Amino acid sequence: MERLTSPPRLMIVSDLDHTMVDHHDPENLSLLRFNSLWEHAYRHDSFLVFSTGRSPTLYKELRKEKPLLTPDITIMSVGTEITYGNSMVPDHGWVDTLNNKWDLGIVKEEACKFSELKLQAETEQRPHKVSFYVDKSKAQEVTKELSQRFEKRGLDVKIIYSGGMDLDILPQGAGKGQALAYLLKKLKTEGKLPVNTLACGDSGNDAELFSIPDVYGVMVSNAQEELLKWHAENAKDNPKVIHAKERCAGGIIEAIGHFKLGPNLSPRDVSDFLECKTENVNPGHEVVKFFLFYERWRRGEVDNCEAYTASLKASCHPSGVFVHPSGAEKSLRDTIDELRKYYGDKQGKKFRVWADQVLATDTTPGTWIVKLDKWEQSGEERKCCTTTVKFTSKEGEGLVWEHVQQTWSKESEVKDDSTWII
Ligand code: GLC
Ligand code: MG
Repeated sequence: MERLTSPPRLMIVSDLDHTMVDHHDPENLSLLRFNSLWEHAYRHDSFLVFSTGRSPTLYKELRKEKPLLTPDITIMSVGTEITYGNSMVPDHGWVDTLNNKWDLGIVKEEACKFSELKLQAETEQRPHKVSFYVDKSKAQEVTKELSQRFEKRGLDVKIIYSGGMDLDILPQGAGKGQALAYLLKKLKTEGKLPVNTLACGDSGNDAELFSIPDVYGVMVSNAQEELLKWHAENAKDNPKVIHAKERCAGGIIEAIGHFKLGPNLSPRDVSDFLECKTENVNPGHEVVKFFLFYERWRRGEVDNCEAYTASLKASCHPSGVFVHPSGAEKSLRDTIDELRKYYGDKQGKKFRVWADQVLATDTTPGTWIVKLDKWEQSGEERKCCTTTVKFTSKEGEGLVWEHVQQTWSKESEVKDDSTWII
């Protein structure tokens, strides 16, 4: 959170499964659209928060399966675990508040008496979250009886039903909503209360997110019955909460537009970058666009090939250098020329490229350093290079690519120099 010295322009707090991530879209198109929009227009001055029901173990698994960006803050296990930054530093202060009228042993002991409840995997049982599966038809009745039992034993717990199958038992003070309220309070004391906050969700455990004051909310089009029911009963007249027309991350982009929270045109929705050239003098934008171009190039989806390569070459300094992750140095312009032979080599194949954590710094006037993680998925293989680009700009002229350097990221599953182009 130290990254920003002033209040973030937008804080997106999003659920993952069936909200940010569409498990029915093997191409991950809406997620990739969101990613490009975020890195292009928001990363530098906004906060991305993931708030998931998953435990740290299952969250990390999802990160390997899907092209998820790196969030600034990660809230896991239904608002019972909050961590910060890339290294996921835990918020111990939050955990301490959750012990009030909570006893893991008693919760398990009482819940195990219900034959309708089937314990979830061991990874999903956390210090402040006990989780079961229960049939839709039994959920309400079991919840009611469980609450009574816990009350009798002096506990103050919260029971949440999600996705028409998951039943979570948490301390009363926990949950995604309470975690968000805690976070907002903390940010406020640090002078970093976001200008706008948008909560995004699809199921029962997200409902609380939509009752935090001053927070915009979007229930994605594919929201679950239990969330829509909660909304109809509790928040129908709140104009700050919408039910989107679009699925998953598409619904998040839709809400950004609906509530006028900032730009909502993803670079992935722009087919011809040459057309929108003049308005862009932001070096971060250049990089996001370049790698999108690179994906389209290899997928054989660029119409105006000659014009594109010519314009790219023209924006590279004549003596600009590209340092490949192997350590080999090449001229930037030669690298662009070389790209020609790869045109369409990934046509009809699973091939996607996305940029994560794009951050530009301007240390000296007229010079920018852009750092990012460039990810590439080819078939089932995922590779990532930490990339540094140096740009210069003379007054009245466009940005000039001076130097590009890549090194294998420690997150890269494969580090194969021979199949990496740029
Ligand atoms: C995730 C968790 C699970 C929880 C569910 C609903 O799927 O893995 O334990 O019950 O979210 O909150
Ligand atoms: Mg969900």
